[in-house]
Amino acid sequence: MSFSLPTILPGRGARVVALGHYQPSRIVTNAELSSRIDTTDEWIRSRVGVRTRHIAAPEESVTDMATAAAVKALEASGLAASAIDLVTVATCTPVIPLPNVATQVAAALHINAPAAYDINTACSGFSYALATAHHAILAGSARHALVIGAEKLSDWTDWNDRTTCVIFGDGAGAAVVSASDTEGIGPVVWGSDGVQGSTLRVESRDGKIQQDGQKVFRWATSSLAPIAMSACKQAGIEPAELAAFIPHQANVRIVDLIAGKLGLGAAVVARDIIESGNTSSASIPMALSKLTEQRQIPSGAPVLLFGFGGGLTYAGQVIASP
Ligand code: UT7
Repeated sequence: MSFSLPTILPGRGARVVALGHYQPSRIVTNAELSSRIDTTDEWIRSRVGVRTRHIAAPEESVTDMATAAAVKALEASGLAASAIDLVTVATCTPVIPLPNVATQVAAALHINAPAAYDINTACSGFSYALATAHHAILAGSARHALVIGAEKLSDWTDWNDRTTCVIFGDGAGAAVVSASDTEGIGPVVWGSDGVQGSTLRVESRDGKIQQDGQKVFRWATSSLAPIAMSACKQAGIEPAELAAFIPHQANVRIVDLIAGKLGLGAAVVARDIIESGNTSSASIPMALSKLTEQRQIPSGAPVLLFGFGGGLTYAGQVIASP
């Protein structure tokens, strides 16, 4: 596939070279939720699109899931853990504020002295983390980065609130990003709208996720397609040329409405929400990893990643598929 991304610094670039994902073994069906709360499989499938979600065991942490996904991405890259010099974890569900998840993942993988930082922009987190790792590589501050999105949303979900608990799931996805002579990651288009931030919130340390679902839905379906298009424009590519569109897996109706506005050609559109639920910052790397594993995206082909959600935040970029 012949497409090229603009270089910011001549001869310097970065590429996503390998991917991996991890999901907890416990699968919760709509039937199970319907037996506990006032909902139905039909409502959940038609309004949200979810059929199943994976839910972590009580003792399984965000760090455990992030590490498991990272191990798979590292194995697929063929790199030794010691080659990694930057670890970044996008998450909005760490159990504790200190130490951060990235340093714990690095320690678990025996990575020596990496830059290690967490990013919390909720559902856009993976694209933010990918952009900062990309920039670090372009600046010469890193050569091989682990970029991870990991969430245990089940800890922050009120399992008696039918307006939220049917939506979310747990999991992690990871990418190895390496320095390259050619550019494999396009310019990020990112931003936020904090004025509307309270539409999606956790109000206290022991609070649970609350949202004004319709407001978030309207924002996502009315404001975001032009921003996703500008990520393509900045990368010098038409949406019709994309091989895949991997938006945050918020709601299958949101995915389809944004995809419908982009003017895609034969692009594969990620719909992992059906199997995995909404896993916030993990949704993009998990969906990308699965589609790559299933060989649904040719190597080197242009893929638009586009995250959006809590904050309200958004970020997206075109990448060359590994
Ligand atoms: O990562 C970003 C995270 N958030 C989002 O992306 C959320 C975006 N918003 C959405 O996805 C949708 O707004 C929801 C899926 C949250 C809700 O779908 P909706 O079509 O906007 O439903 P609604 O809030 O307008 O509620 C319609 C009805 C209400 O009943 P009444 O007042 O019409 O009698 C709700 O009480 O559906 C009811 N309802 C449910 N019924 C059965 C709400 N949740 C459920 C449920 N089962 N689980």
